[in-house]
Amino acid sequence: MTPEKPRLVVLISGSGSNLQAILDACTAGSLPAQVAAVISNKAEAYGLERARTAGVPALVKAKLKEMDRQVYDVELADLVESFHPDWVVLAGWMRLLSSRFLSRFPNRVVNLHPALPGTFPGTHAIERAFTAWQNGEITHTGVMVHLVPDEGVDNGPLLAAEPLEILPQDTLETLEARVHALEHRLLVETLARLACGKIP
Ligand code: GRF
Repeated sequence: MTPEKPRLVVLISGSGSNLQAILDACTAGSLPAQVAAVISNKAEAYGLERARTAGVPALVKAKLKEMDRQVYDVELADLVESFHPDWVVLAGWMRLLSSRFLSRFPNRVVNLHPALPGTFPGTHAIERAFTAWQNGEITHTGVMVHLVPDEGVDNGPLLAAEPLEILPQDTLETLEARVHALEHRLLVETLARLACGKIP
C-alpha cells in the first residue's frame, strides 16, 4: 500500500494562477502532493473554475459583512480541517487570518508573497516595488514563501525567497508577469521540499 501523498488545502481569492501551478505540478509529479480542496472567500474567483476542471473540490466560504471576523475564521478552519490537510497554502488569498484560524494548523500554514522579506508587506506589493524602483530606491524586488504562525502580515518564518532584478525596459505589466512566473516556480519548489520532509 503506497502511503497517501501529503494533502494540500489551497485558499484563493482570485485568478488562481498559483493554484494552477500547484495543480499542474501535482499532475506532472514534480510536486509529490495532492490538492484535497480549494476554498475561496470570493464566489467569482476564477481559481474555483481551475479546481473544478482539475476535478478538485472547489468551495466558497464568503465573509458576509455582518459576520464576526472570529466566527468566520473558526468556520473557515472547520471547513479546511474537514479535508485533513497536511499543509494549508495561501495562494493569492487576500484576507488576514486571525489566531482563531492559525492556531488550528500550527506550523502548517504557508503563504506566498510577491516581495522580498521585510519589504512591501500587504497588498499591491508589486506596484509599490515598481514605484520605488521608478524613484531610484531599489533595483530588485522578489518573491518569498513563509510560514504564518501568527497574525503578522507577510513576516513569518522564511521558507524560501528569490530576488528579481527590475529591468530598465520594465513596465508594471512586464514586471508583474515576471514576478508571477517566479511565484509559480518558487511556490511549487518550496511545497515540494515540504512534501518531501526537507523542511521541518
Ligand atoms: C499573486 O501575486 C499573489 O501572490 C497575490 O495575488 C496575486 C494573484 O495570485 N496575493 P493568483 O493568480 O490568484 O494565484
